[in-house]
Amino acid sequence: MTQAVLRAHDLAHAYPNGTAVFQAVSLDVKAREIVCLLGGSGCGKSTLLRALAGLSKPLRGQVEFLEAPLNEPHPRAALLFQQPSLLPWLDVARNVGFGLNFTHQPTLPREQLQARVATALDAVGLGGQHRLRPAQLSGGMAQRVALARALAREPQLLLADEPFSALDAITRAQMQTLLVELVHRWHTAALLVTHDIDEAILVADRILLMGAPAPGEPAQLLREWTVSIERPREAAPAEVTAMRLDILQALHAQQTLPV
Ligand SMILES: Nc1ncnc2c1ncn2[C@@H]1O[C@H](COP(=O)(O)OP(=O)(O)O)[C@@H](O)[C@H]1O
Ligand SMILES: [Mg+2]
Repeated sequence: MTQAVLRAHDLAHAYPNGTAVFQAVSLDVKAREIVCLLGGSGCGKSTLLRALAGLSKPLRGQVEFLEAPLNEPHPRAALLFQQPSLLPWLDVARNVGFGLNFTHQPTLPREQLQARVATALDAVGLGGQHRLRPAQLSGGMAQRVALARALAREPQLLLADEPFSALDAITRAQMQTLLVELVHRWHTAALLVTHDIDEAILVADRILLMGAPAPGEPAQLLREWTVSIERPREAAPAEVTAMRLDILQALHAQQTLPV
């Protein structure tokens, strides 16, 4: 059996104001697997991802990363958000290297750090752009820099929260393809949060549907699909359409059962 990189058991979260966001969430992400967490706006995806990243403490339950309890962000679990959050006064290369020598990271010799940055920028197709500043980048390029920054950590898990939803459709499609290619090439696992059914079907090996089992109830994981459509999936539109219909039906039918 493939080893789980990330494992969550019976997670629940409530905000201090008492809002219960989700409960009874158990999941795992195996080595080299791409899992998409799919759900409507406001259902608690970002809250769950923060708990899975060690950024917030769940009310109940446990998160394990690389078979050890996770209580704070781990250097081998890299994060990617909708906004690239680049530092405007640093060039592209320094943005990618930024944070690599922080306390939670093992200290790297200078040459090794530069090599990691160069490799990551090559991987996202920005090999010749080291000296550009964030203000000179398009939205898609800025998100590539953010992806390179995540890769430079040589992560065993990439945790991404709607990383492409601010991009135009064409750039988004390119980034989805790039993400899958890089995750495969770098032997990384990924957990991608998205509200976009098509994105989930194109990218995921497995889709977890998150939502409230009944109106007003905390969200749970409602259903799971293994996506076995051969890649590139753009070449199999009939299978993609069939899966999209299946997911839409599950979303519309309120009788979905918790997994
Ligand atoms: N800091 C907070 N305090 C109280 N409620 C919050 C806070 N952040 C988010 N929420 C609520 O938690 C729910 C889930 O939010 P979120 O995880 O951002 O959903 P999603 O990412 O799926 O859109 C929403 O109802 C939101 O209003
Ligand atoms: Mg969100």
